[in-house]
Amino acid sequence: MPPAAESDCRILRPMAILSPAATADLRGAFEAADYRIDPAMAAIGAAGRAALARNHTVAAERALGERDDALATLTRLFVLQLTQPKAAVEAALPAAALLEAGLLAEAEGGLRATVDIRPYGGDDGSAGWIASDHAATLNTARGRPRPDHVLGLSPASVSLAQLTPRRPVGRALDLGTGCGVQSLHLARHARQVIATDVNPRALDLAGLTFGLSGVDVDLRRGSLYSPVATGRFDLIATNPPFVIAPPGPRRLAYRESSDSGDGLMRRVVTGAAAHLEEGGVLAVLGNWAHETSCPWEERLAGWIAAGCDALVVQRELLDPYEYAEIWLADAGLAGTPSYRRRYDRWLAYFDALGYTGVGLGWILVQRSGSAQPSIRCLDWPYAVQQPAAGDLMAQFDAVGPSRWPDGRFLAACWRLAADAYEESVRPPGAADPASLTLRRRRGLPTAVPVDGALAGVLGACDGDLPLQAILDAVASLTGEDPAALTGRLLPVLRELVATAWLTPDTTVASR
Ligand SMILES: C[S@@+](CC[C@H](N)C(=O)[O-])C[C@H]1O[C@@H](n2cnc3c(N)ncnc32)[C@H](O)[C@@H]1O
Repeated sequence: MPPAAESDCRILRPMAILSPAATADLRGAFEAADYRIDPAMAAIGAAGRAALARNHTVAAERALGERDDALATLTRLFVLQLTQPKAAVEAALPAAALLEAGLLAEAEGGLRATVDIRPYGGDDGSAGWIASDHAATLNTARGRPRPDHVLGLSPASVSLAQLTPRRPVGRALDLGTGCGVQSLHLARHARQVIATDVNPRALDLAGLTFGLSGVDVDLRRGSLYSPVATGRFDLIATNPPFVIAPPGPRRLAYRESSDSGDGLMRRVVTGAAAHLEEGGVLAVLGNWAHETSCPWEERLAGWIAAGCDALVVQRELLDPYEYAEIWLADAGLAGTPSYRRRYDRWLAYFDALGYTGVGLGWILVQRSGSAQPSIRCLDWPYAVQQPAAGDLMAQFDAVGPSRWPDGRFLAACWRLAADAYEESVRPPGAADPASLTLRRRRGLPTAVPVDGALAGVLGACDGDLPLQAILDAVASLTGEDPAALTGRLLPVLRELVATAWLTPDTTVASR
């Protein structure tokens, strides 16, 4: 049966957790208290912020001291998970409406928040408030996370936001929205944003995030691409539940799916082609398995649908022990009686699947329609200059020019990336360098070893002269036969174009 058109599909939309009027009142209370990112961060201080990143509240509690103003009350209540005196809470926000919605609860000594609501501010000017569950790893947390736990802002959310291209687009999909943070960014440069999740609690809290932040996002319930049926997007951003974990009854919705191994990641990537407009991009952050039977690059290349280009950046590779330890601790199981049994089960699961490790990283897919797709897989455990999205996208733009026929390639004027610089290493007192390396400062700060001739050619690529003229001039300086120099450097120059070190000078091309 053909898939239902998007308009035919029964779209499940969640009810708002707070009425629009109560949401507006809560936002008004936040604004009146100046409960925004800069004042709240200033109130807990640098040590408080650093300790919170380590899941400890003590430094922030001490920074707030005896303060009893609304900003301090809201910060203790929503960020530090501390019970606050009823009178202070009632003075800071519309407590009755929040109690009725279950966002506040009676507790010994006053009221406590049942969710985390904190101000947010992204580097791109995105701002608002994010609602999520309280971090289960915080020292003030009450017990282990519930199976439908809604993760708040995490390092993975920040990385995905930085890897998602920010070009103006028509339609964007936030797949697996969780607390809604990706949509806050997407709403700044997409005309329409659809956010989906399988977890009804995530939809409730994302709805609250959007209401408080004043962004218009179409929320839908369902798995992967089913809530959008045949809909197509210019941009899809997702960090799906990518944790590769043994099957078990108590799975955490935010990190584990019921797929075997890394099957969900594969379905996200392979399924995207049918939902991307021509030129549309999928940005994914996640995990993939390493197997003995197949190099990881080959395995991931097999996930990329025909007609799509892809760039995969593996940022980290963990062995099964490191992997199991990290995720057992994340679920609050370290030190519990079942720890060793669960750990052994994890290892046995990996053995059964033939998994030898897990790669963590980014996958960008662009629907290019090309008959000869470009799929590049890069192992990059080194530093990255964030946000990397623009530099990563430049590699998609480079696919066409890197394949121009020799005549067009050599007649074009090229520009070396503005952030490129040359590093020479020479023994003390030596006249000539022992080695020359070209490096970049932005994005993935890659390096390319060069010889004197290549350095000369690249140094002259400022968009003024056709490449062939530069090659001929360098050949006359070095005494190398021009045709031989061209033949030797052409493949290297094509690779430098493919990796966006060199871009065609469009002003000269159109002269
Ligand atoms: C790691 S969280 C990411 C949340 C959010 N995008 C962020 O950046 O913080 C993964 C989210 O995907 C949701 N999810 C799990 N399985 C899903 C599925 N099959 N389809 C859509 N969303 C799913 C989870 O409920 C969770 O909210």
